[in-house]
Amino acid sequence: MNWIGIIVPFIAVSVIGGCVGRPLVHPAPSTIADRHIRKPLQTIRPYNIAHRGSNGELPEETIAAYKASFFRAIEEGADFIESDILSSKDGVLICLHDLILDNTTDVANHKQFANRKRSYEVQGVNITGWFVVDFTLEELKLLRVKQRFGFRDQQYNGKFSLITFDEFISVALHAKRVVGIYPEIKNPVFINQHVKWSDGKKFEDKFMETLENMDIKDLMSTEWLKQPIFIQSFAPTSLTYIANLTNLPKILLIADLTTRTEDTNQWFFEITSDSYFSFIKKYVVGIGPSKETILPSLDNHLSKTSNAGLVAKAHAHGLQVTIGFPDVSFASSLLP
Ligand SMILES: *[C@@H]1O[C@H](CO)[C@@H](O)[C@H](O)[C@H]1NC(C)=O
Ligand SMILES: *[C@@H]1O[C@H](CO)[C@@H](O)[C@H](O)[C@H]1NC(C)=O
Ligand SMILES: *[C@@H]1O[C@H](CO)[C@@H](O)[C@H](O)[C@H]1NC(C)=O
Repeated sequence: MNWIGIIVPFIAVSVIGGCVGRPLVHPAPSTIADRHIRKPLQTIRPYNIAHRGSNGELPEETIAAYKASFFRAIEEGADFIESDILSSKDGVLICLHDLILDNTTDVANHKQFANRKRSYEVQGVNITGWFVVDFTLEELKLLRVKQRFGFRDQQYNGKFSLITFDEFISVALHAKRVVGIYPEIKNPVFINQHVKWSDGKKFEDKFMETLENMDIKDLMSTEWLKQPIFIQSFAPTSLTYIANLTNLPKILLIADLTTRTEDTNQWFFEITSDSYFSFIKKYVVGIGPSKETILPSLDNHLSKTSNAGLVAKAHAHGLQVTIGFPDVSFASSLLP
């Protein structure tokens, strides 16, 4: 099965960065100076996390999606904004879900990139397309994004460019109230194979460098509530590795239980065992299974099989549970 296809419909949670990123393309509604008087993060109900922005309306993971859509999502009440983080060829971390640019940008229309198409093996599957790791940031900024699904609003296609991780953090920092960020260390095995940083550091190090000003902040501490963040990944070794670098709260994402992790090659059902939870809880504050993993649906109804016990099991280990909803949520067959 195409692993990317499994990961695509996933959700995430996000942070507010202490780092000052590149300037935003559009003016932000408030200034950093306002931050100390911003309305705080609510703590009375579960967090509402805007997955890839308001992407039903605006193309995902763009300034529009993160500003209008993320600012809109913020206006609409999102507590956190979420993004997948990948890297350009020249090692700049950017917000993008797919390793290929084909489905969410106009790369196919750029004649100068016609010979840039490649086939690479990604977690045991050969994929052909324009891979983000073969483009510099400057080249990526020439592309314009589009909706990945035909049933979404197409009117913003071609209007916006991809954004960097820094720019994403800036969006949260410039919001009128405290908004958390929930970035995902995406496809770390592939990124570390294809992108080399001159200082010998790896993807996870660069990811943490981007967040470095956020320092050590435990979940729900006073500092964390001022700049809330969760770091998420499907790769357990990325999380255990960065646990040496930061106390920031981490979430282990759980894919379809019949698939394997990209790094440790363990089945996800193994990753949800009591013994594994006992191990991983030293590194993460919670798990992030998809709704389909907990409550599978069949023909638009709840199927008879349920993994609801997984939530109780995680809670028994003191792990929080963040449920991801399939990204294709407008496809009615997938609505619960
Ligand atoms: C891109 O779209 C094609 C056609 O809909 C689909 O088969 C493929 O899985 C998509 N690729 C990714 C990476 O989502
Ligand atoms: C991917 O393609 C290469 C080259 O054609 C081939 O050697 C390899 O076996 C393929 N891998 C898979 C998983 O299909
Ligand atoms: C964390 O750091 C310690 C001490 O440097 C090292 O022994 C250990 O292997 C590191 N753990 C990971 C997961 O990288």
